[in-house]
Formats: sequence, structure tokens, C-alpha cells
Amino acid sequence: TKKLKIGLAGFGVVGQGLMDVLKKSPALDAEVLKICVKTRKERTLPENMFCYSADELINDDNINLIVELISDFEEAYHIVTSALKKGKHVVSANKKMIAENIAELIELQDKHGVSLLYEASACGSIPVIRNLEEYYDNDLLLSVTGILNGSSNYILSKIFDHNQGYAESLKEAQDLGFAEADPSFDVDGFDSLFKLIILTVHSFGTVVDPKEVLNYGISNISDFDIQFAKEKGYKIKLVAQVEKLAENKISLFVLPRLVRKDKYIYSVEDEFNGVVIKGLAYDKQFMFGKGAGGHPTGSAVLSDITAIGHDYKYEYKKKNYYPDFYYEQTGEIEI
Ligand code: HSE
Repeated sequence: TKKLKIGLAGFGVVGQGLMDVLKKSPALDAEVLKICVKTRKERTLPENMFCYSADELINDDNINLIVELISDFEEAYHIVTSALKKGKHVVSANKKMIAENIAELIELQDKHGVSLLYEASACGSIPVIRNLEEYYDNDLLLSVTGILNGSSNYILSKIFDHNQGYAESLKEAQDLGFAEADPSFDVDGFDSLFKLIILTVHSFGTVVDPKEVLNYGISNISDFDIQFAKEKGYKIKLVAQVEKLAENKISLFVLPRLVRKDKYIYSVEDEFNGVVIKGLAYDKQFMFGKGAGGHPTGSAVLSDITAIGHDYKYEYKKKNYYPDFYYEQTGEIEI
């Protein structure tokens, strides 16, 4: 029998994506025993796999791994904390819930000797958390800068390259399954902000309160702004950045910024995400890939499931840098 017995909470875009990806990976030592959903309806899987209360997953002694892929933040918090307290491993993709509760979640996983992984919470298919955690030394690290929200980037790409309207582009991002249940979460910069908070934990070892960070989305970008950017040879991108300042301080922001052609992130289009990691000794590195959608995000969840099978845990080993909230920039981004 398989080693990991999964209770899956949520069967939306990412949950279904995960089930598809799991089918392509039969050698993986994991199987989904039960799926918890909100409503009873015709499904592609047998009815006896479904249940309607997450507590059923949490109280099932056969289940040793909870995979939480729902959009409700409070319910996600309940599921993840109760699962950890029950000694179950957890994989989650819920960036808001993780970003807002990370200190408590780390404590819970340590106390109960289990592992909580959330690669899918930031940048979909791009393995950015695992790399920040394992490869990068935070004394060498200078900044992490990225396009972290696929929906906003999709909308901006359509506006810039196809002269398409804002509303039509947003509707497409929703229809394609990139946008959150409440799309203001995407276009007002919150999705990017929560992802940035998570990347900051794994790059600089600092837990920053999202409420303290300046975030501004793309919904107020005017035709004049677009015209101005085009004439000067820029694109406007929704950029999230954490940067090291002097004296062990870091600054964070999420802002629409002007991006010049010679920057890596200039070429990040549609729902793709891109992250530039800058540091001493290696200058710049660029990670690029699909940041949203069922299969790309499902593949990140799959990689966490595999990692749990190998007893992998985040170590949060980095030392602390302190956030400085009075530092801000506008205009062209220099990375
Ligand atoms: N709504 C998110 C996005 C999904 O557009 O990037 C991936 O986290």
C-alpha cells in the first residue's frame, strides 16, 4: 500500500489539476483517499470519494497528509491548524492564510513533529520557495523581485500587446482559471503581497506583517499611463520586491512599475511569473514559468507531496533582517 494517504480539501481548479497530475505519476508513493468539497454535484470521480466536512478528513486515522486547496481563508486556517495538531503533514497553496499566520504555523509543525509545505502558494509551477530555502545564502542575497500574480500580468499583457480593454482581459483571466474567486485580490496587489511575504520568510528569514507593506494594484492604471509607457519604450508590470538595505534592514513593496526592455521581467507575458534573484557572487538569476492554472499549480503541489514522502521540512534557518517601512520607490525599476 501507498505510504502517503491524502485527504484533499477542495476540488476547484488546483484540486482537479492535482488529480490529473497525480494520474501521470503512478509511481508516487501517495494516494488520495477522500476529497472534501462544499457542495454535492455531478463529479468526474466516484461519489464515495467525496465528503462534505473537512473534519471528516482531519479525524480519519488512515489519512496522514492533508492537502488544502480551498479559497476560503478562515476555513483553510481551521483545516491546516487542526491537521497539524492531529499530527498530520500538510500541503497548502493558500498564500493569504500562510502569509498571515506563518509564525504560528511554523510553531505548530515543530511542536507536532510534522511538515508543512506550500510551494504552490507562490509562483505556481516555479520552484522558488524550495530554491530560496536551500540554495541561497541570505548574507549574499541582495533582492528578490518578481511578477508574482499571473492574472494581473495577463491583463497588462493584453492591454499592452493587443490593445484589449481592462474588463475584457480580466474576464478572460477569470475564464481561464487564473484569477482568484474574488479577483480584486489579484488586481489590487494582495495576491502578490502575500506571496512576497512568503518569499521574504524564505529569503531573509523575516516574518513581515502584510498590513505594514505598501501594495498597490493595477486597477487604476490609466490610458495615459499606458500611452506614456509605450512612447518611452517601457512596459508597466505589477512588481513585488524585497530588497536588502544597509544595516540588516529590508524593504518590501508591491507596485506597478515601469520596466525597460533590457530587464528579464520585461519579457514575462500572459499568466507567466518571473523572479529575479540578485546577490553577491552571482549577480542575477532569473526563474520563469507558469504562475497560475490547474496543472502548473497542481505540479507544485505534487512536488510538495513527493518531498513529504522524503521527510523534507523547511528549516527556516536564515537569520533575521528587519523591515524598514519608510523606504519607497516609484517609476522605473532598476534590477
Ligand atoms: N490568482 C493567482 C494568480 C493564482 O493570478 O497568479 C496563482 O496563485
